[in-house]
Amino acid sequence: AGDGDCRETDVLVVGSGIAGLAAALGAAREGADVTVATKATRPADASSWWAQGGIAVARDDPAQFKADILTASDGTAESDAVDVLVENANDAVEDVLLDTLGIEFDAAGAEYDFGREAAHDEPRILHVDASTGKHVHVPFLDHLDSRDGVTILEDTAALELLTHEGGVRGAMLERDGEVTPTFAGATVLATGGIGDLYPRSTNPDGSTGDGVAMAALAGADVADMEYVQFHPTVYAPADGDGNGDAGATDGADPFLVSEAVRGEGAVLRNAEGDRFMPDYHEDAELAPRDVVARAVRSERDATGDVVLDVSPVDFAEEFPDLAATCEDRGVEWTSGIPVAPAEHFLCGGIAVDSRGRASLDRLYAVGECARTGVHGANRLASTSLLEGLVWGLRAGEDAAGRPPERVEVPELRDSDPELPDAFASEKFVRLRRAMGECAGLRRRPSELERGRAVLRRLKGEVDAYVRTRTTRSLYELRSATVTALLVMRAASENDRSVGTHTLVEEPAEPRAE
Ligand code: SIN
Repeated sequence: AGDGDCRETDVLVVGSGIAGLAAALGAAREGADVTVATKATRPADASSWWAQGGIAVARDDPAQFKADILTASDGTAESDAVDVLVENANDAVEDVLLDTLGIEFDAAGAEYDFGREAAHDEPRILHVDASTGKHVHVPFLDHLDSRDGVTILEDTAALELLTHEGGVRGAMLERDGEVTPTFAGATVLATGGIGDLYPRSTNPDGSTGDGVAMAALAGADVADMEYVQFHPTVYAPADGDGNGDAGATDGADPFLVSEAVRGEGAVLRNAEGDRFMPDYHEDAELAPRDVVARAVRSERDATGDVVLDVSPVDFAEEFPDLAATCEDRGVEWTSGIPVAPAEHFLCGGIAVDSRGRASLDRLYAVGECARTGVHGANRLASTSLLEGLVWGLRAGEDAAGRPPERVEVPELRDSDPELPDAFASEKFVRLRRAMGECAGLRRRPSELERGRAVLRRLKGEVDAYVRTRTTRSLYELRSATVTALLVMRAASENDRSVGTHTLVEEPAEPRAE
């Protein structure tokens, strides 16, 4: 409900990927009045829409599912959190995706056609072609759109959290330059990932770490921020640079080539045509994602372009959506798809418990912006939609039941909207370069220190403008800068290479400043 100057809601959900939608559903089922505020103007603006491989379930062996998650994380995932995931996986999928939304996953006769991906001991992934995300996301949005008690505000950004006595009471929401304080009984952050902080990413535009930054600025705990996952097989044009996490941009939109393609038998070949993964890991192309990403990068450095050879797979038949994307983009997949790693998923984030509760009263976080402990230092394939669904439902249920409370709001002033947009795009270039060069797939302590210094300077420049102008781009830049600093700081303070956090030797000659 709104009175023109402000709005009130029982539960405010920020973000509209699967985690945010599950939180909205969980809260609405408890009778709460729910407002979903999302920057998205179309479903494809949420990362969930882009998910390809699918959604892993426990089938009849949760213990093996758990073991696979722990192994992929290099033993760093938290046992209790993983139990919550694997023990609730089948019920959450059945309840929401099958019974409520009626999603028809691919089947082979009477059985589901469970897919297999790297580091999974058995096929356990429900999917619809290799474009599962949109087949789940669109019906989910439609369902909530027509559900009483749920209001979805599109093209609406959260700029700051409203805080009161160590807790959170809603957020300042911006739409078309108008800022509206929105008071909430509980606030659930579901803002997704940080792809916009890197030169090459699989995330949609707008993945600027807003939730992590707003929570951290309000004083909430964050954890595991150094664990940024790079997906090994992201299209990179042949003879282009493609080493985007190292700071270069290659000018071509990256698109993900699902791990499910390797699950069906596709192999990686270096520029000499040799299959190299068996030399790196006994599971070859099905090794954990961090291992494959590092191997692809090494082979690219040593030999040139790496391709995913899809000839062992009936590609057009099994992956029609991907084959169509290749054709649209003029990629001759019959001669192998050129690939390079790109930023894909933040394993860390806002520290939450088994119900998505953050360290501040009435603040919750779910999905990629949350750190549940499930992923540790490296996430297992096709567990992100599942984590969003399970934690989203649990957080939504827990968040319901408190009335909104009006608190003091910060003063945000509007002025010249021209300057900040130009300012933001120029600073974003600097930020992405620093993140790509210093906090990418391979990290050097000296570079991490250099990156921190660059980002600190940038943050000083951004802070001088924030609160004097309310343009969205400026706030996104602030979120990106704050989040980038959290990644860089966590990476420079962790001297142990594990999972996605890979430290490498300093070169003999230090890099010129
Ligand atoms: C993929 O399809 O390779 C991505 C799946 C995931 O990130 O979990």
